[in-house]
Amino acid sequence: MSTVRAIVLAAGKGTRMKSAVPKMFHELCGRPLIWWVLRSLHEVHANEIGVVISPEMEAGFRSFAVRVVIQEEQLGTGHAVRAALESLEPRPNGRILIANGDMPLVTPEIFHSAIGGLGGGALSLITLRVGRDSNFGRIVRHGDRVERIVEVRDATQEELALEEANAGIYAADEAKVRGVVTRLRNENAQRELYLTDAVGMLVSAGEIVTPILARDSVSLAGINDRVELARARAAMNERLCAQHMRDGVTIVDPATTYLEPELTIGRDTIVYPNTSIARLSQIGEACTIGPNSRLSNAVIGNRCEIRESVVCDSRIGDGTNVGPFAHVRGESVLANDVRIGNFVELKNARLASGVKASHLSYLGDAEIGEEANIGAGTITCNFDGKRKNRTKIGKRTFIGSNSSLVAPLEVGDGALTGAGSVVTKDVPAGGRVAGNPARPLSSK
Ligand code: UD1
Ligand code: CA
Repeated sequence: MSTVRAIVLAAGKGTRMKSAVPKMFHELCGRPLIWWVLRSLHEVHANEIGVVISPEMEAGFRSFAVRVVIQEEQLGTGHAVRAALESLEPRPNGRILIANGDMPLVTPEIFHSAIGGLGGGALSLITLRVGRDSNFGRIVRHGDRVERIVEVRDATQEELALEEANAGIYAADEAKVRGVVTRLRNENAQRELYLTDAVGMLVSAGEIVTPILARDSVSLAGINDRVELARARAAMNERLCAQHMRDGVTIVDPATTYLEPELTIGRDTIVYPNTSIARLSQIGEACTIGPNSRLSNAVIGNRCEIRESVVCDSRIGDGTNVGPFAHVRGESVLANDVRIGNFVELKNARLASGVKASHLSYLGDAEIGEEANIGAGTITCNFDGKRKNRTKIGKRTFIGSNSSLVAPLEVGDGALTGAGSVVTKDVPAGGRVAGNPARPLSSK
């Protein structure tokens, strides 16, 4: 079999987005639009993928492991393909897969069917059924054969009534497509070089052009404006939820559960409504997540409960409960069986197993030993106006309600602070302090 190389068209201005951000970088379920197309293409195992971009997109593309082709001026899809082919060394018998970059719902199967449909012909293209108000180019047939594609802005009323349209995915014989793209002209409503004109040119030259009618038109949606972006997001989210549900996760309401790709969620975990799970989060088995929660880059063990809370960039052990109304952030690490309750904020805090902070606290830059009990209203005063300082709280300590722990500070194992203490000096193991500033309590 000859090799298949792929070209993704991503340089378009995306004017209909009305945005300072290039269209390809708008996010859908947590990833840029172009990421999705490339992911499906990677599964096709194309020998090489070239993405046509505009000069201002170059910086944003450094994190993608693909070859980019700069299209200096966006003179149309045909011009983009020409730029891509000029940058590719010609290969005899080579096949080229061409895809619009603005169709994130596209699946590897669709790419396979375009390649499969090419056979020994010059070009195959994926088509779909559309309604009259669709902005997709229409397929004009002559009998059974495709004759040409007409873009909506150039179409007559009769042509607009045609129900078959061009999806923007093609497989082509490399030499034949090279031959026609150099001859495209911009005599059309948009003054652009249309790749779609290559179809008519190949047909007139007696070449074989094969349309492949796709059954699943949802996967072929092109994103041109923010209305289409929102619709596609909903469809993608539904797919992501369905996959986790099939793998044993209960999602009470997929419509209000916002997922991203590359997440793991264990079996028998239940996700309640209005919850988003983002950025490579990993959730264990039999957890309760939500309602009204946001997890981002969170690693959660088994049998945890995260209720009406936010957990970002943090790790949580087994059997730990967070919320309602808690905020865990900044590389916090919670061990097993920790309890974090109402209105507690943790930032870069390490809590050993069995720690309880059930109400109204800020614990920042803190290390807290096992079974410590942090009373309501406890604050680690970690910022002295210049630096962030650490607070170390020992095992089995009892921190009284409304204690202010002025860092840097160390409270030894088994120590106690009285309610309302302002602790400015280290407390030894087993020590008992109270007051403002806190002083040792007499041992009577
Ligand atoms: C295109 C097709 C149309 C098809 C539809 C499917 C053409 C002329 N029309 O229309 O038949 O039904 O897709 O979604 O091809 N691009 C470049 N450089 C350019 C212009 C565009 O790289 O100079 C890229 C865009 O970033 C985009 C893709 O090509 O990813 C398609 O361009 P777009 O302007 O969105 O074409 P449509 O009007 O949607
Ligand atoms: Ca488009």
